[in-house]
Amino acid sequence: MTASQPDVLAGAYGQCQPFRIEALRPCTLVILGASGDLTRRKLMPALYNLFELGALPSGCQILGCGRTALTSDHFREQMLVAIRQQRALTMEEWERFARLLAYRRLDYAQQADWQDLASWLRQPGLPASRLFYCALPPDQYATVACQLGAVGLQQATAPDYSRLIIEKPFGHDLASAIALDASLHQIFAEDQLFRIDHYLAKETVQNLLMLRFANALFEPLWNRSYIDSVTIIASEQLGVGQRAGYYDRAGVLRDMFQNHLMQMLALVAMEPPSRFETETVQNEKAKLFRSLRPFSTGDPAPQLLLGQYQAGQIDGQAVVGYRAEAGVAADSCTATYALLQLYIDNWRWSGVPFYLLSGKRLAAKQTAIHIQFKQIPHSLFGHLLSAPIPANRLELAIYPQERIALHLQTKSPGGKACLAPVQLCYDYPQAPLQARLDAYEKVLLDCLQGDHMMFWRQDGVALSWAYLEPVLGRCGSQPLLPYVAGSWGPPEAAALTARLLNI
Ligand SMILES: NC(=O)c1ccc[n+]([C@@H]2O[C@H](COP(=O)([O-])OP(=O)(O)OC[C@H]3O[C@@H](n4cnc5c(N)ncnc54)[C@H](OP(=O)(O)O)[C@@H]3O)[C@@H](O)[C@H]2O)c1
Repeated sequence: MTASQPDVLAGAYGQCQPFRIEALRPCTLVILGASGDLTRRKLMPALYNLFELGALPSGCQILGCGRTALTSDHFREQMLVAIRQQRALTMEEWERFARLLAYRRLDYAQQADWQDLASWLRQPGLPASRLFYCALPPDQYATVACQLGAVGLQQATAPDYSRLIIEKPFGHDLASAIALDASLHQIFAEDQLFRIDHYLAKETVQNLLMLRFANALFEPLWNRSYIDSVTIIASEQLGVGQRAGYYDRAGVLRDMFQNHLMQMLALVAMEPPSRFETETVQNEKAKLFRSLRPFSTGDPAPQLLLGQYQAGQIDGQAVVGYRAEAGVAADSCTATYALLQLYIDNWRWSGVPFYLLSGKRLAAKQTAIHIQFKQIPHSLFGHLLSAPIPANRLELAIYPQERIALHLQTKSPGGKACLAPVQLCYDYPQAPLQARLDAYEKVLLDCLQGDHMMFWRQDGVALSWAYLEPVLGRCGSQPLLPYVAGSWGPPEAAALTARLLNI
């Protein structure tokens, strides 16, 4: 962030002053793929909430584009239905927002359509700053960048801007990620590109930096001397749903590990940046990715378990196995579960195992980071207790609760040597509501501000792919362990999972 772009989310210590929007330039947000699922379920509800909170700069316009032929009125009606699926609003409230919306048909391959779009965007009275949001299949990103460049829409005269926002996946492997990046960079500079990982916009994930580096308490313990293991889990109860076509090509490693889990790993394990600034934070993340022990090498070598769900039950309802899902081949070898144990070869983390776990159709939807501390070196209560004292654990829960819980041992009232576990808990829902923005609201606000801190930088994308390529290479050759839908994964991982997640 530059000095000319004050942080609208910054506040004095102890305060959060979320919406100093007078600092932001009005802009036209162009959503490409506006007839799709992401626009309906995430973007439009987030934009409405920002508008209602007064967090959209005045003069903003929102233009939906797509191949589907829609009138602006019809588009508005669809967006009203989409927003109403998530919240109540009166027609009066809606009409104030609806005035910002318009729709234009756009065939991405047709240059004439782009010329028309450019003329429309350049009409007097519309903001000269533009955000182009690719809510589109990823194979369209390069075309969009190229077409924007052809009609000059990638350019803006400071202080106006032109920015391009893209969603994961950023390529299918290292080579395609590099190729995509080369296409985007032919038209856009890195500071114009926003690669979204909406996990990074979640409060508890963002809080990792605050918790680690605004407290003197944790950082001295945050290393191999005191930490036994770190587990990062993102489990889902859902199956592939309507996304079988994409998922069967991607699998769990591309869908979850390459992006969300690697970002959480970076935030939990990176060295302290010197300042809370994009460049310094991104540099530390890249350094961390470079420190990952290459898969299958070293002593101990990183380990991997892969699985695929079979028929079972979720919340008492029978569900089919992965291969019986609509759109999945009956002999598909796509992994829907992975547990990766990795090591970080640096002074801080040498020898500490990190476990990344994600899967579909697991027992619960849960996103969390568990920091497992080491056992106390000697128990003076050993002769009085029948079981070892559980070691301390710090749990950073992202879903279903956003919570920080520190698991400690304390004396229970009663006998002299009565120990019992307790939790020191901070629940985010207790935070003042006006200070809370959901992930897509934060992402959009950061894009309006030009703040890249919680987005992927290209070197991180490439380093993450480079680490995962040998892991992906294993997918064809190592056994795919079956697991029952509604369980915690393959039986082969049961004991380890129970220990890691304390279940
Ligand atoms: N949905 C989510 O929750 C979610 C979450 C994270 C990331 N993402 C990412 O966000 C992007 C959009 O997701 P989505 O779920 O909204 O996708 P989608 O519904 O499948 O597609 C969005 C729109 O793109 C257009 N489109 C589809 N195929 C196209 C093609 N071959 N060429 C040109 N346009 C095409 C369609 O609009 P027209 O036919 O009107 O042009 C469609 O309505 C994807 O990259 C996805 O990976 C989505």
